[in-house]
Amino acid sequence: MADEVRGVIAPGKNEPVRVETIVIPDPGPGEAVVRVLTCGVCHTDLHYKQGGITDEFPFLLGHEAAGTVESVGEGVTEVAPGDFVVLNWRAVCGRCRACLRGRPQYCFSTHNAGQRMTLTDGTELTPALGIGAFAEKTLVAAGQCTKVDPEVSPAAAGLLGCGVMAGIGASINTGGVGRGDSVAVIGCGGVGGAAVMGARLAGAARIIAVDIDPRKLETATRLGATHTVDASGTDPVEAIRELTGGFGADVVIEAVGRPETYRQAFYARDLAGTVVLVGVPTPEMRIELPLLDVFGRGGALKSSWYGDCLPSRDFPMLVDLFRQGRLDLDAFVTETVGLGDVEAAFDRMHAGDVLRSVVVL
Ligand code: APR
Ligand code: ZN
Ligand code: ZN
Repeated sequence: MADEVRGVIAPGKNEPVRVETIVIPDPGPGEAVVRVLTCGVCHTDLHYKQGGITDEFPFLLGHEAAGTVESVGEGVTEVAPGDFVVLNWRAVCGRCRACLRGRPQYCFSTHNAGQRMTLTDGTELTPALGIGAFAEKTLVAAGQCTKVDPEVSPAAAGLLGCGVMAGIGASINTGGVGRGDSVAVIGCGGVGGAAVMGARLAGAARIIAVDIDPRKLETATRLGATHTVDASGTDPVEAIRELTGGFGADVVIEAVGRPETYRQAFYARDLAGTVVLVGVPTPEMRIELPLLDVFGRGGALKSSWYGDCLPSRDFPMLVDLFRQGRLDLDAFVTETVGLGDVEAAFDRMHAGDVLRSVVVL
């Protein structure tokens, strides 16, 4: 039987979000209905509201979520009712060329439950990133659910579903940070802060946090940065070189998504160092580089999409580390709010006041 619950809708371009009654159909083959416990507020939700991702309004926002499986459709074996799960927005197919070559992070046939949730008048909702979890319940593809240890705070675990995973993965999966490496992270918001934490987890010896906001540098220190650079007054490239014996860092992670910070990342790496772009640029952004500088420095220029994560491999592992006290996911939860507070949470995010606001249902 279809169910009616409350959810946060973005009705039209730049219109304030509001709580509405939404209709959740029964799960079809391969689908699951999840009772959402928590869902973090991410920049991507704001981008949806601003019309920056698609114009398929209205959206059901929210995608950094943890919850309990309530019911599953035909043929679902991955999860069962009662399982505690973290949701992901890339359920890999297991059959495409990328999957078959052992690189499911680049799967090009990821699937989700599509547009089956509606308003009470039948208007179809587009779920943000195929999830839509600022709602008491949501309908997803079963492959979007990863079972993790339930003895964990859902607010923290849910953050693994997007930004925090992107940051940790930029360090440990994409950057391949290893024991003893020097790592610089440019931009230490939620994603960059998580990259700092990932670098510590991977055993980096020197972790240089760069930001223009002193509050973010303080948090980065708490998360494991050994040095900080306030880029509002100092040239970060010079500062990173000085802090690495004149060489530059082995791995530099760009977590802002702007041409000028990407350029800094490019020049702040050691010879044969790796640059990872995890900040999301906009389509019109360009940078120009002397080709000789690309040639002459060697190394690798990489991008990290969703932290190159494999949810079924990475979520349970990171939850284990969290439970053992080796990964401070709680540090990202600046505040917990209700479903009616998402608009205000967007304002605080925009002002840089929070790492993450988390909606608790
Ligand atoms: N130099 C250094 N840091 C900067 C600069 C700069 N020129 N400009 C902005 N920053 C810092 C901000 O002060 C902030 O701390 O970058 C950080 C960006 O963090 P958030 O706004 O919290 O964004 P976050 O959620 O971490 O996402 C970062 O990744 O997912 C994408 O769309 C997202 O592109 C964004 C990036
Ligand atoms: Zn695939
Ligand atoms: Zn997100």
